Amino acid sequence: QEKSEGTIRWKSPSNIALVKYWGKKKHQIPANPSISFTLSAATTTTTVSFKKMDKATKEFSFDFFFEGRPKEDFKPKILAFFERTEDYLPFLKQYQFTIESSNSFPHSSGIASSASSMSALALCLMDLERELNPGISSDFFQKKASFLSRLGSGSACRSISGSLMQWGAHDEIEGSSDLFGISYPYKVHPVYQNYHDTILLVDKGQKQVSSTVGHNLMHDHPYAPTRFAQAHTNLSQLKSIFANGDLTAFIEIVESEALTLHAMMMTSLPYFVLMKPNTLEIINRIWAFREASKKPVCFTLDAGANVHVLYPENEKEPIYGFIQDELLTYCEKGQHICDRIGLGATRV
Ligand code: PMV
Repeated sequence: QEKSEGTIRWKSPSNIALVKYWGKKKHQIPANPSISFTLSAATTTTTVSFKKMDKATKEFSFDFFFEGRPKEDFKPKILAFFERTEDYLPFLKQYQFTIESSNSFPHSSGIASSASSMSALALCLMDLERELNPGISSDFFQKKASFLSRLGSGSACRSISGSLMQWGAHDEIEGSSDLFGISYPYKVHPVYQNYHDTILLVDKGQKQVSSTVGHNLMHDHPYAPTRFAQAHTNLSQLKSIFANGDLTAFIEIVESEALTLHAMMMTSLPYFVLMKPNTLEIINRIWAFREASKKPVCFTLDAGANVHVLYPENEKEPIYGFIQDELLTYCEKGQHICDRIGLGATRV
C-alpha cells in the first residue's frame, strides 16, 4: 500500500525496574530477565512526519528537533537505531522523516529518557508500518513495537504497555522472551495497583557512566554468573509476592536489586560509585522511618544517584508526608517528580 505523507505521534512513559537488567549480549539480548513498573508522569512525546521520496536513498534521511530546537547530538543515536531496525522496517530509506521530541520532565534532571524516547520513536515507525500493512494484529503490533524499542535501548522494550512489564526469557514465565517485553501474565494483588514512585532528584549532573559502558562492564565481571542467576531467582520469588501482596518480601527483593546493581558497578573494572552522600542519607531515612512506622515504603535506584521511593496507594498520605518532611531536603532545590504506575504508551 502507498502512503505518501503524514504525521504520527506517540506518547510513551519511562519505567522503573524492580529486577534490574544489567549486562547484555550481542543485538541487545539481555544477560538476565528483568521486570519493571511502567510509569505515567515521566513521558516522551514524539511526532514523526514522513514524506515518501521519489526513489529510495542510500542514506537515512531525517531531521531531529528536541523541544522545538534542532538537536544534532541526538542524531547519532537515531541513526544507530535506524541501522539496527532497517532489516525489520525495510521502508525506512524510502522516506524523509522529521522527528520532534519533548519530555514531560525537566531536561537534564538526571532522569534517563532513553526508555521513553526510544519506545515513542519505535511506536511511530511501527505505526507507519501498520499504515502500509493494515492487516497486522494488535498483538503483533505490540510485540514488534517492543522488539524495535529494544534495539534502541534495552529497557525501552518495557515501556510499550503496562503496568508490570517483564523482559527476558525465564523458565517460569510463559511467553517471556529475550526479544521483547510482555505484560506480566500472572495474577497481581490489588495492593500494587496505583503504586507510587516519587522520584527524588539528588543529582542532576550528567551520568558518570552511560548504560552502554555499564552493561559492557558485566563482561568478565567476577560476580556476573551469580548475579544473572540471582535475577532469575528473584523473578521466580516475585510470582507469589505479586499474587499475595506480601509487601515485606517485595521490599526485600526491590531494595536488594537496587543495591546489587550498584554493587556490580563498584566491583567492576573500571569501578564506579554512582551514589552521592544524599543518596545514602535518603536510604537511611527510609529505613529509619520504615522501622519506626511499619509503613511499606522502599527505594530503588537506576544507574545514578537519584532515588525512586515506592509505596502503595493506600499509604500515600503518611508516606508522602514523610517524603516532604524528611527527604526533599536532600534533593537539588527540593526537586522531585510525583509519578505512579501507568498503562503504557498511547497514540496522541
Ligand atoms: O536500557 P538501558 O541500556 O539504558 O539500560 C537500563 C539499565 C537500568 O536502568 C539500570 C536497569 C533497568 O532494567 O532498567
